[in-house]
Amino acid sequence: MLRIRRIPGILYKHKFTVYSACLVLFTCVYLSFKLNVFCVNLQAWSHVTKLCRQYEEGLAVGSLCAPLCLTRDIHSLTCHSFEATKEAVFSAEWHDIRLVFKSVPKDVKALHWYDNGAARYPSEKDFLQTIRAIVRNKFNLTVAYDTAVRLSRLKPSYEEKDANKRRKEMDNLWLLLQDNEYLLSALFTDKDVFPQLLGTCGPYFAVEYLDPIPTISSYLTYSDDTENWGKRLKLAVQILELLDKLETNFREPFHLCDLKLEHFGVVRDQNALKFIDLDGVLPKSVVNAIINDVEYCGSDSDCDFIDCRSRCDDQNRCSNIVANDNLQIVCEKIFLGWKMANTILVPGLLMSQHTPSELASLLRQCANPDSEEGKPRTIPDLDIKKRLYSALSEIEQTVNNDFFL
Ligand SMILES: Nc1ncnc2c1ncn2[C@@H]1O[C@H](COP(=O)(O)OP(=O)(O)O)[C@@H](O)[C@H]1O
Ligand SMILES: *[C@@H]1O[C@H](CO)[C@@H](O)[C@H](O)[C@H]1NC(C)=O
Repeated sequence: MLRIRRIPGILYKHKFTVYSACLVLFTCVYLSFKLNVFCVNLQAWSHVTKLCRQYEEGLAVGSLCAPLCLTRDIHSLTCHSFEATKEAVFSAEWHDIRLVFKSVPKDVKALHWYDNGAARYPSEKDFLQTIRAIVRNKFNLTVAYDTAVRLSRLKPSYEEKDANKRRKEMDNLWLLLQDNEYLLSALFTDKDVFPQLLGTCGPYFAVEYLDPIPTISSYLTYSDDTENWGKRLKLAVQILELLDKLETNFREPFHLCDLKLEHFGVVRDQNALKFIDLDGVLPKSVVNAIINDVEYCGSDSDCDFIDCRSRCDDQNRCSNIVANDNLQIVCEKIFLGWKMANTILVPGLLMSQHTPSELASLLRQCANPDSEEGKPRTIPDLDIKKRLYSALSEIEQTVNNDFFL
């Protein structure tokens, strides 16, 4: 009793320490929210509140504004962004659909300019030209006229005739089109590789929700039974199928320069995966250009664009061709696991007691075809690729058929 009574006295005696401790604590909590270390659903709501104010002022337009702000059909907001590359990522429910909202970068120069105080906008023709230039710059791709027209509208088949509304539409589109993720989803709607674009409101767009990889949690617990092994094999086969699509369904192969297992998502009711984080997804020639742009390199790693790697030559210039490919990095980072000094620290998706030694050997050759020291920078040759694909699908079929029959 006596001790408890003395607490206020003790606090008083050390009041400066107490003040400073409170201040430090407060600052830490404030900063962690500001920097998105935690994210709470309240933050998602505050984004929506701000967006809806813009909607009421007529600044934000798009198909999702009314259900979000007016009828409130979109509900159950859940926050998702833990890393701060995107300002906001949150999911929500709309009737039976789950959507993921993403914000686009804010630091974009406005589309309109001022002439004696009057806002000026580009003509429709110039706007189309600008859109085609954006796509060319980002993806080294020349889009057909019809595609540019589709990209120049919020509703693909609706032409806004009201001049004022059209200006707002242009302003909104302008922000959206700068975003790699929006642009990829809007451009390649029919390819089944990127999340489907479901709508927009102001500088936010929404894509279909993809279920997280089911094995991530179970495989972190190291349960290593046959059922788990079968699931991992199935997932590996699906990843290879997605890589095939990225390689063959486009004019140029797309490289996944920021590759993590968490960046894959499962399409509900379909036996397929899609890639979630599209900021690092770029066509090969663009990756080459980014690498070639490096002014000076002292070592190979200076030529890396995250997981897309290249080499530094004798003149301290980066090679103008990306040296690895999606399959190499998948074998290294996802199938084999996290390595340090040639020992596997965190076993990958296909490293288990069930892994046949033949498969393990193929995976090592795929991850590091030239047995390089340090980070591998070589594309697995076609023979390894074929043998890996066929070994994997054969093992997958055997294990999963035995298990489920
Ligand atoms: N389409 C989606 N379906 C399900 N979850 C998603 C989707 N898009 C993003 N997420 C979740 O939100 C997180 C952050 O999204 P992401 O686009 O990777 O943003 P950032 O580029 O800021 O990391 C992802 O790691 C994932 O957990
Ligand atoms: C764009 O793609 C074309 C055709 O594939 C290629 O010839 C050209 O070099 C690429 N341009 C750039 C800047 O990468």
